[in-house]
Amino acid sequence: MITNVPRLTSADWDSWYTASWPTLYTAGWPSLVTDKEAEYFHRAVRPRPGMTAADLACGNGQWTRQLAAWGVKVTGYDFSAEAVRQAAVAGLQDGLSYTQWNINAETIPAALLPGSLDLVTCRHALPFLEYARALTDVGRWLKPSGTFYALVRVAADQDNDDADDGAAAQNDSDQEPFHRGFTEAQIDSLGIGWTHRTTYRLSAHNCGIVLRGYGDTATTPRHTAGETSRLPAPPPTPPAIEETRAR
Ligand SMILES: C[S@@+](CC[C@H](N)C(=O)[O-])C[C@H]1O[C@@H](n2cnc3c(N)ncnc32)[C@H](O)[C@@H]1O
Repeated sequence: MITNVPRLTSADWDSWYTASWPTLYTAGWPSLVTDKEAEYFHRAVRPRPGMTAADLACGNGQWTRQLAAWGVKVTGYDFSAEAVRQAAVAGLQDGLSYTQWNINAETIPAALLPGSLDLVTCRHALPFLEYARALTDVGRWLKPSGTFYALVRVAADQDNDDADDGAAAQNDSDQEPFHRGFTEAQIDSLGIGWTHRTTYRLSAHNCGIVLRGYGDTATTPRHTAGETSRLPAPPPTPPAIEETRAR
């Protein structure tokens, strides 16, 4: 059963970002990029200068700027005018730009051409999107060698039986409309249609997900949720990385 949490509009998010400006913004709101997140992303994805990327629902650009600092040519997309404004104020440079776009409702920007991107990221935002549809689009925009990365909050299992239909997640309470997460089952389902999935826990509440090979059935059958194997633990003492491969 889907609990009836209303969708947040761009105006809701504008108000939220306005309230956070500038005090919380400078403290890393909505979500600071930690050294641990950067380190694990670096190890799993190996970002390189010259890579092309899109950061979906980029907010005020905390993560978008991190990608640019690694030399990645990245555009951040968000439907909140205030978020995009704050991102631009934080600094634009060659290879770093922002575009206002409602990912659920508006036409895909012309820059997002099929097979054009090395990397698509979506941090703390998938549960707000029609994520099954968005991931199909992501699979199309990526080069065959491309990678999708998401950071999601892990939410407690609730009455959520129908939430795997790929609509925006509805699993968090009305008290926390701006902090939605996915259940473990929803996180599992994100690998369907991709040949390679890596997940890792950054904390009790945050999970990193790396997907590769969307629809790549010519060489490997698609991932089915529930198939897991473990990678050797890398130094120094990281959280467990769990890799799922297609059968
Ligand atoms: C919790 S914030 C995360 C922001 C950023 N990714 C970060 O890690 O700091 C979620 C973001 O999703 C954006 N968002 C929600 N629904 C959206 C939609 N339909 N299209 C584009 N952006 C959306 C919001 O405006 C907000 O900036």
